[in-house]
Formats: sequence, C-alpha cells, structure tokens
Amino acid sequence: MTASHWAALEAHEAKPLATLFGDDADRVRALTVEESTIRFDFSKTHLDPTMLETFSKLAEAANLAAAKEALFTGAIVNPTEGRAAEHTAERGNGNAESVAQARGLQARMRGLVEAIEAGALGDIKHVLHIGIGGSALGPKLLFDALGRDDARYDVKVVSNIDGAALTEAVKGMDPNKTVVAVASKTFTTTETLLNATSAMEWMREGGVADPYAQFVALTAYPDKAIEWGIDESRVLPFNEAVGGRYSLWCSIGFPIALGLGWAAYEELLEGGAAMDRHFRNSDPLESAPTLAAFADLYYAQAKGCQTRAVFAYDERLRLLPDYLQQLEMESNGKSVTADGAPLSRNSAPVTWGGVGTDAQHAVFQLLHQGTHLIPVEFIASKTPGHDFDVAHHETLLVNCFAQGAALMAGKKSDDLARNYAGNRPSTTILLDDVTPSTLGALIAFYEHRTFVNAVMLGINPFDQFGVELGKQIAKSIGENGASGFDPSTTALIEAALGDL
Ligand code: F6P
Repeated sequence: MTASHWAALEAHEAKPLATLFGDDADRVRALTVEESTIRFDFSKTHLDPTMLETFSKLAEAANLAAAKEALFTGAIVNPTEGRAAEHTAERGNGNAESVAQARGLQARMRGLVEAIEAGALGDIKHVLHIGIGGSALGPKLLFDALGRDDARYDVKVVSNIDGAALTEAVKGMDPNKTVVAVASKTFTTTETLLNATSAMEWMREGGVADPYAQFVALTAYPDKAIEWGIDESRVLPFNEAVGGRYSLWCSIGFPIALGLGWAAYEELLEGGAAMDRHFRNSDPLESAPTLAAFADLYYAQAKGCQTRAVFAYDERLRLLPDYLQQLEMESNGKSVTADGAPLSRNSAPVTWGGVGTDAQHAVFQLLHQGTHLIPVEFIASKTPGHDFDVAHHETLLVNCFAQGAALMAGKKSDDLARNYAGNRPSTTILLDDVTPSTLGALIAFYEHRTFVNAVMLGINPFDQFGVELGKQIAKSIGENGASGFDPSTTALIEAALGDL
C-alpha cells in the first residue's frame, strides 16, 4: 500500500509552477500557513491537490497522528536506545511527570542565573560556553541572533578541539570575571573535556585562585560532572531523554538565560510551545511542519534531489544553516529504519546554505542554471535588526523575493548561456521579527518537520550511531599509534604525529 503511494508520487507529473499558479487563483492562500507571527509560504513548491492527497494517505499509513501523540506523551520514540524524546516537555508539552521534572530543573537553572546576576561568583562579565554539536550549536545560533544589542554578558561559544578556537574565544576575556559553562549531555566528549581543562589552565594562569568555583556544568549525567570537579551546586542537570540536538530548551540553554535574561529565555520556550500546539493540533494539510516535510519528501524521494539549500536573508540568522545541518542530517541521515530493516528509500538530503545576499554572488549561479534540481528555502524578517537606513532592509527583502521569483519564472532565451529554465522550487519563511519567541517557534518548526520526515520514512530520528566509528578509531590511534591501519592512514599518522 505504502509502496504504491510512493510509486504514485514518483509517477505523478507535476505541472510547472507557473501553471499551478495560473490554474488556481487561491494557491497562495491555500499553501500558506500563518503561525506564531511567521508566514510559511509553500506555494512556490510543486505541491498540488493530487500530491497532497497521496501524502495524506502516506501519513495515515505511517501512523503520523499516533507518532505525534507518542512524541508528546513521552512514549518510546527512540527504540534503538529505548528512550522517549522529551524536548517538547521542556516547553511544557509532554507527559505530566516530565513537564514537572523540566520545570523543577529550570527553576534550579533560574536560581543559578539569578545568583550569578547577584554577584555570587564575583563580578562576572563574560560567559565561556564550551560544548560541541547539539551542546553548542543552539546557544551559538541564539546568542548570535538575539544577543547583538542588549546582551547582559559577553558570551562566547567554543566547540572545536583546535586550540585556535579556544584562543580566539578567550581573547578579550578577563579570567577573573568569566564563568565557564561546560555543556555536555554525556560529559564524556573529548573535545569538550579537553577545552574545559585548557580553560581551567587559562584561568589559573590568569591568576584565578580557585577556577573550579567559576565553572558550571550542563549535563544529563551530573555525577560525571561532579567527579570532574564541579561543585554540585553549580551542576545543572537535564533529562537524559532530551537529545543533544534538541537540547537548547533545557540547561544547555544556560548561556542564553544568563546572557539575555530569564524573561527572554521563557519567551523562547513559549515560542517553541506555541509551535508544538500548532503541530499537535492541526490537520496535516494545515500544519506548517507537516507541509514542509511533504515538500521535502517530494523532492528528495520522488525527484531524487540530493540536497536542499537554506538561505537566511537576515544577518541575525546566519548560523541557522549550521544549526539545521546537525538537526536534519544527524537525525535523518540513516540507512536503516526504526525496525532495523534497510531503508529502501533515500535518506535525508544534504542540508546546506548560507546568507543572502552574499550567497547570490557565490552559489546562486548553480541554483538558477546548474543541472541539479535543488529546493531552496528563504528565511527573512519583516523587521530589520539594525538602525541604518531602511534602504538596507528593503533591498535585502527585495533581493530575497526576487530570487524566489526568478527561480520560479526563469527566462527563455535562444542563447542557451542566457537561458533560465525556471520552474525551480522554493519555500519562503517570513518572520515578523527575530525575537526569542519567533526564534523559539522557528526552531520547533524545524524539529517537527524533521520528525515528520522521519516518521514518513520509518526512520528513528533520535539516535546517531553513525558518529561513533570515527570516535572509536581516533581513540584507537591515540592508544595504539599507527599500527593496524590501512597504509594511507598509517603514513599520515607517521608523517604528522611521529610516535604520538
Ligand atoms: O558526536 C555526536 C554527538 O553525540 C551529538 O549528537 C551531540 O550533540 C554531540 O556529540 C555532543 O555530545 P555531548 O553533549 O554528550 O558532549
């Protein structure tokens, strides 16, 4: 049954975008969702009534409604690890016990934020947040987006194990006035622990008598943080059932709560909660995350698109493509279904992107005239994030909308070098403004979209075993040197590391 629906999608001859608009004067309204002061416009994708009907049937066959309820009620949706995925409980939408636990842990975090504000750790001016992957990307995105004007602390996020990253992060920081937040769900990650040890050294060298007293831990394994040396009073635990790439809603968001203030942090959570309610309560064809996933699936599955591109037409959102890469590729880059069978379809496409208008002068040539079909997503805000001449923002938005129009309309020319085929799809997401609340809703939108993609493909989006092998090999090189590897790897180790 499911196979025949996928086959129907593959066989479906979608009309050109211009024809879809010509045939239906109501297309923009029908394929636009307004939620949380964000406008999601899917009308420039090839979604049409026939396809939507087929996707509805596929969603039924995949038990999407039951999967959503399982997510929101804290059932086991991560079978390979035997866990629920409780990021929505952090926003108040989950089973009562997990919501209560999240509230309690958030109250603990608030207590520490307020104690630091009141001077409990001295005259703190800087926050050095150390983490990697999901323990860094969320705080980095949020602080870069929202902390430009009225941040109360200077917050830097460091992730890479390359010491140059830490050197750059601490430049201009006074170790005596810095709180270091060590963010690691497992509290075992090599990069994070080495960076934390080096930050400790930097503090000692900077004359801090008791550096541990300025360290905070954000983790699902508090015992490990305490064992590492951080006092229990400064350990902010979170629920193990919150996945790393879904963890900015719990104590991993500490630098946001401290840097932007508790009220902003609560607005962020409430923004995410509003999107949860929308996703949970809307019919699939009225749900922004679900429609977005249907378009994703059409291009990745029926049209064989191997990538999707995301362009933020707003400097405040320049880190969004990085954030989405982990969310989408670590969640749905799998070749096995949740039942353990080989995935018979394509997995998630590669997510990539950049910032407009910069990208127009670099990669858009291929989007307009290359042989690849790449669905493009534009994200913009009606309100600018600066006080310069309004011409900046007008030109930015005009360019954003012009790109979507050009991709769709194309332009015929007998001179093939100047011919634009057109009929290239895009989605536009237009925020009223970039605020804690809209950003919370936007991130939750992407989480749910990723979830729908996974459910429709039968993938478990909440594990990430693919990242383990490289870690194991790195460990083994550290322990055993160059022996036991292929000749190329052995030669590289010998050339660069000698005997280790
Ligand atoms: O290696 C991948 C990963 O496990 C991500 O899923 C995670 O966000 C990141 O590493 C960091 O892990 P941790 O928070 O446990 O340090």
